[in-house]
Amino acid sequence: MSTPLDINNVQGDILEGLGKKHELYYFFRIKAGQVSLFREHLGAFIPLVTTTVEAKKFHQTIKDGKKAAAEQGIPFPIIENSGVNISFSQKGLAALEITDSIGDDVFEKGMVADADGLGDDLSDWDADFKKEIHGVVIITANSLLVLEGQLERIKRIFHVGQRNATIEKVTQLSGQTRPGPEKGHEHFGFNDGLSQPAVQGVDAGVISEPGENPVRQGVILVGREGDDGVVIPGQPIQPVTRPSWALDGSFLAFRYLKQLVPEFDAFLEANALKVPRIRAPGDPTGAELLGARLVGRWKSGAPIDLTPLRDDPALAKREDFRFDTRNQERCPFAAHIRKTNPRSDLDAFGGTEIRRIIRRGIAFGPEVTPEEKRAKRSSNDQRLERGLLFTCYQSNLGNGFHFMQESWANTRTFPPTPAAVPAVPVPGIDPIIGVGNPRQMVGASPDDAAANQELNFSAKWVIPRGGEYFFSPSISALEHTFAALRRPGHSEL
Ligand code: HEM
Repeated sequence: MSTPLDINNVQGDILEGLGKKHELYYFFRIKAGQVSLFREHLGAFIPLVTTTVEAKKFHQTIKDGKKAAAEQGIPFPIIENSGVNISFSQKGLAALEITDSIGDDVFEKGMVADADGLGDDLSDWDADFKKEIHGVVIITANSLLVLEGQLERIKRIFHVGQRNATIEKVTQLSGQTRPGPEKGHEHFGFNDGLSQPAVQGVDAGVISEPGENPVRQGVILVGREGDDGVVIPGQPIQPVTRPSWALDGSFLAFRYLKQLVPEFDAFLEANALKVPRIRAPGDPTGAELLGARLVGRWKSGAPIDLTPLRDDPALAKREDFRFDTRNQERCPFAAHIRKTNPRSDLDAFGGTEIRRIIRRGIAFGPEVTPEEKRAKRSSNDQRLERGLLFTCYQSNLGNGFHFMQESWANTRTFPPTPAAVPAVPVPGIDPIIGVGNPRQMVGASPDDAAANQELNFSAKWVIPRGGEYFFSPSISALEHTFAALRRPGHSEL
């Protein structure tokens, strides 16, 4: 039986999220022949790693500061801050001569080899993500200056660019929150990062959804209660064996996702849903209504299941909705949030707990230019590329991200409908991230008569450009297994 969870020992991005306006992902390779020295450098780097306690403290400071500023009627000043985390790929573990199997087939395979299962077209991938990547350092900050200073400090620790460098850069990607009122919204314009599972014993008092208990710690953290093995519907659980150093780490799925924003907007316009000709103030356009039906939330974040016909920003953070398993009038079965968290749809099939992931994405790239808007096409200029640096954590990739993309988003027959309701059609694929043939969903219209009409979207608006699976070890594993000069003997959890 493992000791109680100490969140001082868990990297901060996993359970709390690193405070950020800016975020940089520095993908690196450990230099051949420099493993011992790398371990030494890593030892000097570890004190920079932000823990969950530190990340929580930072968020509390911001909350308190905002409250005090509002009370005094003064603007809230930027609080300088930076967060740092580090994670390793399977190839990184091999480079470090850590040979224990970590007990996750998807991680061990790596994302290039998994691209087919995810439905990616590798010809869209950036060449750098087809190269060997050993790890990623994630740096966040509230100002670009602080972020760049932190990056320089880290490069110095690993002697980057010098004769005795222990790492070399494979590539780096930067994201930033969108400007002004779009802050917190991804590039299609929807409020993002809203629904997250609460973790038992960590997010005190936070209820993820009524009727659904907070998830057990082992859904997100390796080796904790709930990290029982790979769950495939209709099959016995496939237990996993974990090395003892993996306790309180988490698997990170990183996806570099390009978004074709003018094309997405043009599709919504061209397929705008019928709305009454006489409209009240605040009524959506047909394009806005269609957008909300594809995502399952309005741009403000308000769930369409609670407010199906018009946006209501006051409901943006509400989580207390349960889909009606018998129909899709309020929310299509294929809507992005219903595909990726079907809530009550799985009550009769074992629930959703084991599939929950914690998301920590950030937008990247500039705003759409007036020229792109006019042309209804994204520019070919690489500097104008935009999208989402999608990051999520879970204790098992075969239960979490990989399963969600392959068996839910890309699977036309998901979510399953109750046998007692034969009239419900096959939902189709997730219109935001789904890959499959035909590229089609049903139920885009809230109008009863048109509810089962098919909506075809031959175009794709989210193009995977790369990614990798990583493992984010606990602080003690970083110290005693990753940075240790001599490897301890093998033991299992
Ligand atoms: C560019 C690509 C993507 C866009 C634009 C996007 C957008 C959104 C938006 C607007 C929401 C609703 C707000 C929220 O609860 O945060 C959402 C929720 C969610 N997305 Fe995505 N997403 C993308 C990629 C992905 C991927 C790759 C996955 C996993 C395979 C994913 C999984 C989820 C999950 C689990 C939720 C929460 C559902 C819930 O609990 O209600 N998303 N996404």
